[in-house]
Amino acid sequence: MKAAVVHRFDQPLAIEDVPTPEPGPEQVLVRIETCGLCHTDIHAARGDWPIKPQLPFIPGHEGVGVVERVGAGNTHGIEPGMRVALPWLGYACGDCAYCNSGRETLCERQLAMGYMMNGGFAEYTVGYARHVVRVPDGIASADASPLTCAGVTTYKAVKVAGASSADLVAVFGVGGLGHLAVQYAAITGARVVAVDLNGARLETARRLGADHVVHAGEEDPVAAIRALGGAQAAISTAVHPSAFEQAFRSLARGGRLVCVGLPAENEMRLPIFETVLGGLSVVGSIVGTHLDLEEVFALHARGKTVIERTEVPLDDVNDAIEAVLDGTAGTARTVLRPVWVADQIEPPRRLDHAVEPAHEFDPTGAFAPGGVIGLPAHRSGGTVVRR
Ligand SMILES: NC(=O)c1ccc[n+]([C@@H]2O[C@H](COP(=O)([O-])OP(=O)(O)OC[C@H]3O[C@@H](n4cnc5c(N)ncnc54)[C@H](O)[C@@H]3O)[C@@H](O)[C@H]2O)c1
Ligand SMILES: [Zn+2]
Ligand SMILES: [Zn+2]
Repeated sequence: MKAAVVHRFDQPLAIEDVPTPEPGPEQVLVRIETCGLCHTDIHAARGDWPIKPQLPFIPGHEGVGVVERVGAGNTHGIEPGMRVALPWLGYACGDCAYCNSGRETLCERQLAMGYMMNGGFAEYTVGYARHVVRVPDGIASADASPLTCAGVTTYKAVKVAGASSADLVAVFGVGGLGHLAVQYAAITGARVVAVDLNGARLETARRLGADHVVHAGEEDPVAAIRALGGAQAAISTAVHPSAFEQAFRSLARGGRLVCVGLPAENEMRLPIFETVLGGLSVVGSIVGTHLDLEEVFALHARGKTVIERTEVPLDDVNDAIEAVLDGTAGTARTVLRPVWVADQIEPPRRLDHAVEPAHEFDPTGAFAPGGVIGLPAHRSGGTVVRR
């Protein structure tokens, strides 16, 4: 099968023929239709983080495709022919205190897709049946892919932020993750301010429901957000620590910084005095659970979110990475297709008009008072967890 393989952290990915993997016990073999290019894949391919993947490996944790075969043992209801997503959380033990308290993303025995297990930058991928998530029929694979990481991660981050209709939520970095963070924050009814260095991304954020946008290269985002009264929550998906420090300083008293981006430069400086007197909190948020992704798909199927994306052949992955890094990518997310069938490809979806649904406060389901997303009554308990 064809795959994009990382052999060295200082070299481009190699498009090559590798053996098609075999599904082991409780695993499924998935024929990949689409796989989003997350900035995490770029960090992985460059060895940016303190824990590095073992070489060689195949990145990709927004893989979506059709189950072709299942391995021996319990396949948890997953059968050939089903369309599934293969998210970052490729495996969690199911036995530890984290797994048994709705926090499987903290499992110490977890295996990350496209990092510790070969991922979706390939024609076929093997995943653990218990951790693949079924994709509802109404959602195109090219939309399901970005939802599988960018979507679930920011949906969870908005839960962790405890955002509610009375709040100002700042989203720093409105690329693949951030353009979805803006939408989930807007659905809670909060006012949203989007911050980026890329004008095209800010235009998209505005169309997706951001009430204010700040170009951090032209204006001081801290002053701009403070002029709005300060943010009750700031979610940073940006890929530079300076954005995290600005996000922190833009908080109103009692506010919360939710760290989501994972810059190669791994340190930020925060003042102790202001943290204490302002009663500020800083929290990390890592992807989302199986259930979170089901909720993300359900919201999308109801028309509550829009993905801005371009499809490209997997063969062009290195060019696609360069375009994300230099800011010339035409849309917030790029989606790779290992098999390029011209008449299956949709033209790039750029948002050239305002998208109404994201503006509307959704009074039902996950976003309802008493639902998953914290309205003021939920905030006292810190992180809002369902069940
Ligand atoms: N915590 C998690 O679970 C999780 C999950 C997925 C991705 N990530 C991480 O999130 C980050 C973003 O991923 P992505 O795929 O959205 O990347 P992306 O490249 O699509 O978006 C990043 C955006 O940040 C902007 N940016 C860069 N520097 C900035 C600055 N100083 N101020 C404001 N904006 C700035 C860029 O212009 C870009 O629009 C990556 O570090 C990735 O590894 C974390
Ligand atoms: Zn990702
Ligand atoms: Zn566990």
